[in-house]
Amino acid sequence: MRVHVTGATGQLGSVLRATAPSTAGFVGLSSAELDVADGSAVQRWAAESLAPGDVIVNCAAYTRVDDAETDAAAAAAVNTDGPAHLAAASAARRARLVHLSTDYVFDGPVAPAASTRTAPYEPDDVGSEPPSVYGRTKLAGERAARAADPTATIVRTAWVYRGGAGDFVGTMRRLAAERDRITVVDDQLGSPTYVGDLARGLWELITADAGRGAVLHATNGGQTTWCGLAKAVFEADGLDPDRVVPCTTADFPRPAPRPAYSVLSPLSWSAAGLRPLPDWRDALTRALVR
Ligand SMILES: NC(=O)c1ccc[n+]([C@@H]2O[C@H](COP(=O)([O-])OP(=O)(O)OC[C@H]3O[C@@H](n4cnc5c(N)ncnc54)[C@H](OP(=O)(O)O)[C@@H]3O)[C@@H](O)[C@H]2O)c1
Repeated sequence: MRVHVTGATGQLGSVLRATAPSTAGFVGLSSAELDVADGSAVQRWAAESLAPGDVIVNCAAYTRVDDAETDAAAAAAVNTDGPAHLAAASAARRARLVHLSTDYVFDGPVAPAASTRTAPYEPDDVGSEPPSVYGRTKLAGERAARAADPTATIVRTAWVYRGGAGDFVGTMRRLAAERDRITVVDDQLGSPTYVGDLARGLWELITADAGRGAVLHATNGGQTTWCGLAKAVFEADGLDPDRVVPCTTADFPRPAPRPAYSVLSPLSWSAAGLRPLPDWRDALTRALVR
């Protein structure tokens, strides 16, 4: 078996590469090596490189949530057409597709409106019209993938970080060194997810051949706000968490609407026989001592 990972130079793809079991036959594909939006290119690649029993993990995505609001066609090409092309390839070659998706597919309240929801989302809780272009293109991608290959596994995750430059946790550490106080939104609730734990979970899913045809949720356990996460980063680094000051999403307006509630239930993951991802605080501690 070989495991072909698209979007392999991104946050998740690069950690999947670094953590691949020696038995996995890891094949990383950058966007230059395989443009998932190009149906002919995917067909050619599959004919040459994809064998029955192989696995595709689709980490390729248009993830610039704000840019997507004014660049819907480009977002749809990667987030909707991409998984459709890969699923057609996996079905034709009797391979297995694992496609990554997001909490943005739900259509609950957007911040700064208070969330009326208190129960974590189960996979079937999706509505029809996610509020953002990113969410709509990702939901359409899930549906296109499952239509082309009913055995495809959709894995939704949320609030993923590595703890390095450019992601939320890394940015909080940099700002802690640069500023006395920082202001962080406190009206969006979610489950921060350490990319190392997500990668471990995906390798378990693949090696156990679990969850075929299922939609699964994979995040670290527990919940907090972005402000809560920032305070936890300060605490873990021995800094005063009161230097992090809460504000609302209205104080930092962005082009794309943000979900007020992004907590994903772990039940689908356990029901597939997979080990739950640890609590987010435990994960953060491990991410920061890396
Ligand atoms: N990060 C999060 O907080 C988060 C939360 C929920 C769900 N997810 C989902 O998790 C998955 C992985 O996300 P990530 O954090 O690893 O994202 P990322 O760091 O932005 O990586 C995305 C990758 O996709 C590649 N890509 C873009 N267009 C492509 C195309 N047309 N063909 C092939 N590759 C293309 C990018 O390559 P270039 O850089 O060369 O363009 C990049 O390597 C995505 O499905 C995302 O929607 C992420």
